[in-house]
Amino acid sequence: MLVTGSEILVPARNGKYGVPSFNTNNLEITQAIIHTAEKLRSPVLVQISEGARKYAGTEDLTNLVADLARRASVPVAIHLDHGSSYESCLSAIKAGFTSIMIDASHHQLAENILETRRVVEAAHAMGITVEAELGRLGGIEEHIEVDEKDAFLTDPDEAVQFVEETGVDYLAIAIGTSHGAYKGKGRPFIDHARIAKIGAMLSIPLVAHGSSGVPPEIVQRFRDSGGEIGEAFGIADDDLAQACQHGIAKVNVDTDLRLAFTVGVREVLQKNPKEFDPRKILGPARDLMAQLIEHKMKVLGSAGKA
Ligand code: G3H
Ligand code: 13P
Ligand code: ZN
Repeated sequence: MLVTGSEILVPARNGKYGVPSFNTNNLEITQAIIHTAEKLRSPVLVQISEGARKYAGTEDLTNLVADLARRASVPVAIHLDHGSSYESCLSAIKAGFTSIMIDASHHQLAENILETRRVVEAAHAMGITVEAELGRLGGIEEHIEVDEKDAFLTDPDEAVQFVEETGVDYLAIAIGTSHGAYKGKGRPFIDHARIAKIGAMLSIPLVAHGSSGVPPEIVQRFRDSGGEIGEAFGIADDDLAQACQHGIAKVNVDTDLRLAFTVGVREVLQKNPKEFDPRKILGPARDLMAQLIEHKMKVLGSAGKA
């Protein structure tokens, strides 16, 4: 069933489990997400980025996801990932999204508040729930001093002010994660004390971006099938499970599915150079994505909650 983000995330926050929000760009990714959610009885969010809208077309992709979501036996929300403007958020709602993110986190606090409030007011008038972001996510390099790191990560008092002044439904916080396959030169540092503090001060669901695990076995299979990738590291399962105990309720994952998709395709083509049936090439990729999705739902504790 197609539901809003809050209908999935508020129970998750209260029940201390996380729900994955996976990026999609096409049919196979969407099927892997929604069919695995049904298999595991897990709620799920399917998120579409601005880049995905450009690639697949907002209407084509939204209609595809919405049709699968409506027919699903578990709650599914269609979420706009990193919405870039008020206009983009409104056009996503018009297309059928049930959850949107306005990402004005690159602006100063006052401007982030203004832009977010404007989107919240419009979205709420249409019954759609909203995510915003406070803090800076990526690019926290190892050479940056602790004081400087602090300036990138979300300030708990600012988070309270931000939620009060915007009325946002769920808040993405910067806690040490970053986007992509290279999250650190080893196990990335996750600021659990900061999560717990913000979680104690705010009762709304919190969101962790950049939460792919970049599993070493998938990275190895990527290399073994001819792919080139450097020293890739993701977020450990136990870090995610712990974060969900203290307020993280929405966990964003894209990179893991990209890796699984590509490994699936590479392995088929390497083993069967004569293959040119798209179904034989994309089917195994869909199966491998489903395995990663299943693992994430078990780690976050959303399996069995729908
Ligand atoms: O947060 C970024 C997501 O991984 C989406 O990436 O903008 O390339 O679709 P994209
Ligand atoms: P990953 O790059 O870790 O998959 O994060 C995706 C994300 O946060 C999308 O908003
Ligand atoms: Zn993100």
